[in-house]
Amino acid sequence: MKLIVTGGAGFIGSAFVRLLLAGSEPVRLTVLDTLTYAGNLDNLAPVAADARYRFVQGDIADPAAVNALVEQEQPDAIVHFAAESHVDRSILSPEPVVRTNLFGTFTLLEAARKYGVGRFLHVSTDEVYGSIPEPHEADENYPLVTSSPYSASKAGSDLLALSYHTTYKMAVTVTRASNNYGPYQFPEKLIPLMIANALEGKPLPVYGDGQQVRDWLYVDDHCRAIRAVLERGRPGQVYNIGGSRALPNLEVVERIIAATGRDRSLIQYVKDRPGHDRRYALTSDKITRETGWAPEMEFETGLAATIDWYRQNTAWIERVRSGAYREYYAQNYANR
Ligand code: NAD
Ligand code: TYD
Repeated sequence: MKLIVTGGAGFIGSAFVRLLLAGSEPVRLTVLDTLTYAGNLDNLAPVAADARYRFVQGDIADPAAVNALVEQEQPDAIVHFAAESHVDRSILSPEPVVRTNLFGTFTLLEAARKYGVGRFLHVSTDEVYGSIPEPHEADENYPLVTSSPYSASKAGSDLLALSYHTTYKMAVTVTRASNNYGPYQFPEKLIPLMIANALEGKPLPVYGDGQQVRDWLYVDDHCRAIRAVLERGRPGQVYNIGGSRALPNLEVVERIIAATGRDRSLIQYVKDRPGHDRRYALTSDKITRETGWAPEMEFETGLAATIDWYRQNTAWIERVRSGAYREYYAQNYANR
């Protein structure tokens, strides 16, 4: 199996690469990643010497680079993780989000069509369903009602990818996962940001009342689900991937405070995110029924392992918090 993995130097893409190379499977993986602030070759250091893997630096929204790679590689499948993945950044600066998530996905789909790539797995998010009122859960047919430039760009790219199945009969599958957490996650998302700040005794900025609900999925469970869909998913289908662990943000923050030995005085309620979705909730019955996948990691165990990882990798945190990260942090959290 020859794969091109886009965004393989990011949080989830690198976990997928490490998972596929953990055994002795005869795979060949080419990572295509432009290395934005979120892309980091340190995340791929554990596989750097593996002869089944190679890294190509390139932009998915650059048709010449994408076409050249797909023509040269003739992959069996493209597994497409690359994205601008953060809601707050998409609010501050939507342009790269639209360019990468929409035009980048289009560029990959066109190359896959041109060179007859057998499978295209588009990695998406439950955020495309928008805020879900209690007691409902979104299945794959739930309406797409997006709130942020990020979720709108993901919904648009999902529909574009599915249109290549309907129109050109390409074997496209779309996965929609809930909020991921685990090692190597960039410290801009809720869990790694709160862990990194708590470890340093810095304030923990909770948006609004902190009662927004997210469903937490351990990153390795997500990657196993993607492998299952790649192997057994039906073309033209969408598969939800949830962690079956819905928690209000404040409770997540309180657990991090307890596990790092801090106290609640670090919590700082700050101005809410504009267009903030109140609750995400999804059912993963379809992927379980069709592939047998189910999440395995208990949230308590996964969170403890994640906190341990950040405790032991302070040098990694320091390196990813470049000058650009500090500028973003100041811009996002000033005047809140
Ligand atoms: P991430 O931000 O950690 O990594 C994104 C990667 O894509 C980085 O390595 C970056 O360098 C690369 N990239 C960005 N723009 C690129 C471009 N134009 N060309 C090539 N590479 C580019 O993101 P993540 O959290 O690992 O998310 C991966 C995918 O999973 C995304 O598609 C995201 O929408 C989806 N997803 C994420 C979550 C989550 O909780 N993080 C949940 C569900 C779905
Ligand atoms: P995030 O990790 O950005 O994921 P998403 O917005 O894609 O779900 O945020 C998760 C939740 O945590 C979301 O409700 C916003 C909230 N949040 C905070 O309260 N404070 C923060 O500093 C961040 C980054 C997020």
